[in-house]
Amino acid sequence: MSYDLVIFGGKICTAADTTFADIGIKDGQIVAIGRDLEHSGAEAIDATDKLVLPGGIDSHVHLSQPSGEGIVMADDFETGTRSALYGGNTTIMPFCLQERNDNLREALNAYHGLAEDQCYTDVAFHLIISNPDPQTLGQDLPALIAEGYTSIKVFMTYEALRLNDAELLAAFDVARRHGATMMVHCENEDAIRYLVDRHEAERRINPSAHATTRPIAVEREATHRALSLAEIVDLPIVIVHVSNGAAAEEIRRARGRGLKVTAETCPQYLMLTADDLDGMDWEGAKFVCSPPPRNAAEQQACWQGLMDGTFDLFSSDHCPFRYDSPHGKLNPKGAKNFRFIPNGIPGVETRLPILFSEGVNTGRIDINRFVALTATNHAKTYGLYPRKGTIAVGSDADLAIWDPDLERIVHHADLHDGADYTPYEGRRLRGWPVTVLLRGKVMMKDGVLLGARGDGVYLDRQPKAGG
Ligand code: URP
Ligand code: ZN
Ligand code: ZN
Repeated sequence: MSYDLVIFGGKICTAADTTFADIGIKDGQIVAIGRDLEHSGAEAIDATDKLVLPGGIDSHVHLSQPSGEGIVMADDFETGTRSALYGGNTTIMPFCLQERNDNLREALNAYHGLAEDQCYTDVAFHLIISNPDPQTLGQDLPALIAEGYTSIKVFMTYEALRLNDAELLAAFDVARRHGATMMVHCENEDAIRYLVDRHEAERRINPSAHATTRPIAVEREATHRALSLAEIVDLPIVIVHVSNGAAAEEIRRARGRGLKVTAETCPQYLMLTADDLDGMDWEGAKFVCSPPPRNAAEQQACWQGLMDGTFDLFSSDHCPFRYDSPHGKLNPKGAKNFRFIPNGIPGVETRLPILFSEGVNTGRIDINRFVALTATNHAKTYGLYPRKGTIAVGSDADLAIWDPDLERIVHHADLHDGADYTPYEGRRLRGWPVTVLLRGKVMMKDGVLLGARGDGVYLDRQPKAGG
């Protein structure tokens, strides 16, 4: 057999095992994994001394998302997917936001319009439901789930997005009956509101107040409540962006009761703390995200969860805003008040190098667990497996070739997103992707962009069996 491309000499790592073998690629798919394929390809890439991993899948990314009056997200589909690609990713899953007064299908059509012909990675959307009216829950959502939009996110916080408990139960019920995967942002909005009022009365309005108005109890309580509501409806759920040990403990307890829970954490909960929000001259705004980063002990608890299997997913929650911009974090709504700082930080390009450097190269996790946490489990959770997320005959040839010893210091100037800073500026990381292939096409090699805008496509998904 002859191949379009052969990758030879590398160490292939999947979630299951590690082998030295060559990969034969034809028509964008992996068609052979074996020995001595080197001379059977029209082209060949030498991966000697490198790791060959499935392209990363980042299942928690925000792009071009409406974020409140006067605020503009720093990445659209072009810049966001370009940045993701450089970070070793070949698929990302952004959120299509239904705002309170939106029709869900219209919101989705508009979002497809933003993505079309713009992407450097493949994409698939989650639906955010903020308007749980009869049209949405009774008509549009079931129809869209049947069309393959099989993952939904709901919020327990943010006044404009949150669902109350009755609404959560109603949304969960639709997900259960129609076979969708439900992601939940767990923070108690009423408790936050109470704390914000108290902080404002005391004129504690700097960025650090973002962390003290969203303490661990706010997240722990909401996590417990979301899990309890899911238990009542008998719905498997995904708890996203877990920031601390107490919330992780709620997840372990729920699993102990028999509930099927998938859990996600993110780089910010390993690398940042609430002290970062205390920066001079409003610089702390650069680290404002929800839930907020905690402290060293909670970082440790998140590492523990990655090591012991509590967490299944490691995602970026890339939600970029420029710092020095009238539409960003520096002076939101013309007021220096933490309440108005848009929530979210960039991180789609640094997610994988952070976990590789601080997880694999320190010995906390092995390379197979790295692949599971950053690709395979995302594909399995959101209906993309085995087309995506692994290296197997028949899978798309989405591959990232890594130099495990390449050291780089993170500087925003070297990244490829649309923001103007990275929360990880100056961090030294060891282990970076050097070549990324999307469906057999070399998209990035040694820092050079070889792919074209529009090479990434929208990934249709199948409704779940029985849904
Ligand atoms: O602060 C964050 N995480 N912003 C993004 C929206 C969300 O809740 O995921
Ligand atoms: Zn969230
Ligand atoms: Zn998010």
